[in-house]
Amino acid sequence: MPAIPVVLDVDTGVDDACALLLAALHPGLDLRAVTCVGGNAPLADVVRNTLTVLETAGRGDVPVGVGAARPLLEDPVDARHVHGSDGMADLGMAPPTLVPDARSALDLLRDTIEAAAEAGESLTVVPLAPMTNLALLARVHPAAFSRIGRIVFMGGGVEISNATAAAEFNVFHDPEATAMVLDACAEHEVPVTMYGLDVFYEPLVTDVQVAALLEVDTPVARLAAGLISFHHRRFANAGATIGDAGAVGILLEPDAVRTERLPVRVELTGTWTRGRTVVDRRDWSGHLAHDPHGLAPAMVDVALEVDGPRIADLWVRTVGGQV
Ligand code: BDR
Ligand code: CA
Repeated sequence: MPAIPVVLDVDTGVDDACALLLAALHPGLDLRAVTCVGGNAPLADVVRNTLTVLETAGRGDVPVGVGAARPLLEDPVDARHVHGSDGMADLGMAPPTLVPDARSALDLLRDTIEAAAEAGESLTVVPLAPMTNLALLARVHPAAFSRIGRIVFMGGGVEISNATAAAEFNVFHDPEATAMVLDACAEHEVPVTMYGLDVFYEPLVTDVQVAALLEVDTPVARLAAGLISFHHRRFANAGATIGDAGAVGILLEPDAVRTERLPVRVELTGTWTRGRTVVDRRDWSGHLAHDPHGLAPAMVDVALEVDGPRIADLWVRTVGGQV
């Protein structure tokens, strides 16, 4: 099997770092570029953290594009209360020697998508962050957007939320961006998968697995163990989720996830529900026909169940150098 060409769009972020390690190191993936957006931490921190992870993984060949510092409409908020004051677990790592690509995130995305399309390849774009960069791409370079092979994004949820009682953080942070990207996927017939909070918490890495990574004692294994241990300490759970890395894991293990193709909209105006993904699971045609809103144009493969241990094991084996 040829490696799957991928681009990650990240707000690194403890679990974005987990995702970067998997995408950078698994031979089944061909990481072509990474783009950064403000989200979990301010943009400068996100860029530094992203370069640190790629440098640790020995992937200085992967271009990193600097993208949007803020959402389309609102002021940025961050999630350093979750991810640490530096956005990546406060591990005290040395600053990276790598530097970002000279191109903006938008130009890097455009160039990477077009190069893959010209080569007859299907490029998978994996947004793991507020979708500001992708929404801007849809407006600034619509022809390039239309040539994306597939989008698999972490965001939203059918039943579960975190940033507010109604909304998941990535969608909450820039609801208009998510709405624009879903509309663009419908318009350009780009297949889109939503890896939301319903599955996000399932792939858990245990203390025993962390101890085994520390025995491996490579720079990558130490970073991986540090990221997971941070979440263990913060949330005092028996296992810590690899979060965003699960969305990368299902590219490699598509049988580990159950999806349904469902209409999805983003709530943009609700007083208490702004940023909620409204996933339409009705199955009676009478209600559908009489709905004054009509069906959402975006049909999304929504992840409803995942084999968490299988995805967590894939991640542990990859960062432990056993793949
Ligand atoms: C999402 O928000 C961020 O905190 C994580 O990196 C993940 O992308 C979960 O809601
Ligand atoms: Ca993220």
